[in-house]
Amino acid sequence: MYVCLCKGVSDRAIRQAVDEGARNWREVRERTGCATQCGKCACMGKAITRDTLARQ
Ligand code: FES
Repeated sequence: MYVCLCKGVSDRAIRQAVDEGARNWREVRERTGCATQCGKCACMGKAITRDTLARQ
């Protein structure tokens, strides 16, 4: 599903960014562009990032 409509970032893209080495929300933002426009998706993006990091 899309997390960030502005930048077209899916939950899968966030998980992939973590799998490829992003270690925190800031790095996920930099890699995916998530939450770099209106910012409404930040809470969801952070939650998915945290969840993915916790599973590693
Ligand atoms: Fe992600 Fe707007 S929905 S920046």
